[in-house]
Amino acid sequence: MSVKIAASILSADYGNLARDVRRVEVAGADMIHFDIMDGRFVPNITFGHGVVQALRGVSRLQFFVHLMTVEPERQVKNFVKAGADIIVFHLEASRRPLHLIRLIRDLGVDAGVSLNPQTALSSASDLMKEMDVFLLMMVRPGFSGQKLMPSALSKVRIARDMFLEKGLKTPIAVDGGVNPTTAPLAVKAGADILVAGSAIFRDDVKKAIKDLRGSVTALADKYPRK
Ligand code: DX5
Ligand code: ZN
Repeated sequence: MSVKIAASILSADYGNLARDVRRVEVAGADMIHFDIMDGRFVPNITFGHGVVQALRGVSRLQFFVHLMTVEPERQVKNFVKAGADIIVFHLEASRRPLHLIRLIRDLGVDAGVSLNPQTALSSASDLMKEMDVFLLMMVRPGFSGQKLMPSALSKVRIARDMFLEKGLKTPIAVDGGVNPTTAPLAVKAGADILVAGSAIFRDDVKKAIKDLRGSVTALADKYPRK
């Protein structure tokens, strides 16, 4: 499985979202990552399902919705209708995570769970066999442009081993502080999906994606999944 790049539009130009989404698609991104922030689970507010729906019309890429909201169960139907392909919610925000994973899957969309850097992996252990993707935050959630925390990288390694022990090859996504310097470390640790905002939405998006992919291409051959 090759490493996938998900461009987080949190760092795009909000006045030109359609243009920016088309740009990253042409430049070779695999997914568009939507950070849905509600001003409660995290301090800021971003956008809702209407933006996802509007952009669905301009891109064929996989739409990866990252719900950084309280009561995520109240949101999923709208995001499915809007065209999400993957919906990830925060374990810290969910009272009935297993029920929510099943609800998302029953709606025909891949389901995933996300953990903040300070949340223990053991809290997600029983859910691992149920999820389609696991998203590990590499920074404090809510803001782009932060530095990846080295301790979060060790969690990727441990999570990869936990999945393997359960006989699962579930993709692990890393989110926050991912750039051509940190991406190889994340891939070596076991990441399959790189979510990046500020490292992609720069003056030259094409070069930014090329640099990010280039930083991990050789590694993916060197460190094939067991
Ligand atoms: C942060 C978001 C990220 C954000 C990453 O809370 O979940 O998806 O866009 O931004 P960078 O890549 O700039 O750290
Ligand atoms: Zn995110």
